[in-house]
Amino acid sequence: MKDSVAIILAAGEGKRMKSATAKILHPLAGKPLLFYPLNAARKVKSQKIIVVVGYQGEKVKRTFSDEDIIFVTQWKQLGTGHAAASARDALTGFKGDVLILCGDIPLIKDSTLATLIALHQEAKNLVTVLTTTMKNPTGYGRIVRDHKGLVQKIIEDKDATSQEKEISEINSGIYCFDAEFLFEALESLSRQNAQNEYYLTDTIAIARDRGKSVGAVCAADETEVMGINNRIELAQASDVMRMQILEKLMLEGVSVINPKDTYIDFGVTIGKDTLICPNTFLMGNTDIGENCLIEPGCQIKDSKIGNQVTVRLASVIHESIIRDRATIGPFAHIRPGSDVGEGVRIGNFVEVKKTTIGKGSKASHLTYLGDTTVGSEVNVGAGTITCNYDGVSKHQTIIEDGVFIGSNTELVAPVKIGKEALIGAGSTITKNVPPGNLAISRAKQVNLPKKPFLGKKEEKEP
Ligand code: UD1
Ligand code: CA
Repeated sequence: MKDSVAIILAAGEGKRMKSATAKILHPLAGKPLLFYPLNAARKVKSQKIIVVVGYQGEKVKRTFSDEDIIFVTQWKQLGTGHAAASARDALTGFKGDVLILCGDIPLIKDSTLATLIALHQEAKNLVTVLTTTMKNPTGYGRIVRDHKGLVQKIIEDKDATSQEKEISEINSGIYCFDAEFLFEALESLSRQNAQNEYYLTDTIAIARDRGKSVGAVCAADETEVMGINNRIELAQASDVMRMQILEKLMLEGVSVINPKDTYIDFGVTIGKDTLICPNTFLMGNTDIGENCLIEPGCQIKDSKIGNQVTVRLASVIHESIIRDRATIGPFAHIRPGSDVGEGVRIGNFVEVKKTTIGKGSKASHLTYLGDTTVGSEVNVGAGTITCNYDGVSKHQTIIEDGVFIGSNTELVAPVKIGKEALIGAGSTITKNVPPGNLAISRAKQVNLPKKPFLGKKEEKEP
């Protein structure tokens, strides 16, 4: 097998997106578009991956900074041929095959790329193009074949005659080239066309004119080579990707009540026998265990959820850990930096931020726990508030194991409640409470006869 490298063309602005953000950075199932062709190139074991950047190039490099990519810059976007030529210096002396991918074709499968490369190498072609037939080929370059059915040239939509526009076989924008031929052919491109650009597609006719072999692989599924040029296509591709993600999960044993209304990002993992209810968003770097129930309308992002966890209706969990058998919600908000222990119960209208909660503790109603460490088997009564912010800085609250906090309590941080202490309902706690103590800080109740007060109230001015 010949060596192969990949060039991903990603310098264009993507004007049709009408966006301040470069097209290839727009998210699809939680990852920027460019992530997907990169992923596919890695899977077919491209020895080098060169990404041609231009528009917002620095931002693109920053976004993919942790990856094994060689970036080259196309300073002026003069067309796909010019973009491919920008990779020349990065491949000096390279004699193998070059796989060309586009940053805006995210649904491409590595199995299709593997077929393309294998066929290209078997047939010893100079270039092999990935094509497909489309019901509506408008906008795409068309594959013109001769009377023998061999690929003759690619004609761009904007340059095509009305007869050529009838052709339903299109250029996917993905090719496998002999490296030496590619860089040599790119030298002879001209800009005499409707877009005044150097077209990579013109290299096909160049190979043919030299009597050299040009091949084509026709992808069976047109959605796989769909190029994203505007936001309508982005939404369509999102739909396809979403169904692929959901189908894979369902085949692995996850139940999804209504796949059409369930949004799971690429890379989210879910254990078997977990049930996902509709209108749920599972986002970013999220892992969910087995036997969980995720009720409708939840949003879970960059979080780790254990086994047998129940996340009830309309709860939000961000950048947190929820351990086995915990119950969250309904209407709970777990904010970044929280670690909710085994079997913990977080009930309705409870907000938790940068807080660790030990095994078996409960905060069942109307509570705010911020910058707090809660031990195990603690009961946090309804309406408890940790007053963590003094207007300038945030302070810590520590609630040790077995504490019972009565309802409607304020814990003014920094403050520590010792092991198994009891806080009387309605207290405002400003001082540490020693272990095992009862703390109560509320005005003494007075009971007075009702009548004289009522009488006064009824007095009228003469
Ligand atoms: C291109 C093909 C067309 C094919 C279609 C498939 C050409 C001339 N046309 O058209 O035959 O059917 O893709 O989706 O190749 N890019 C650069 N620098 C540039 C121009 C483009 O890096 O100067 C990059 C873009 O960022 C994009 C890719 O190349 O990722 C394709 O460019 P685009 O302008 O979208 O080409 P299409 O008009 O879609
Ligand atoms: Ca395109």
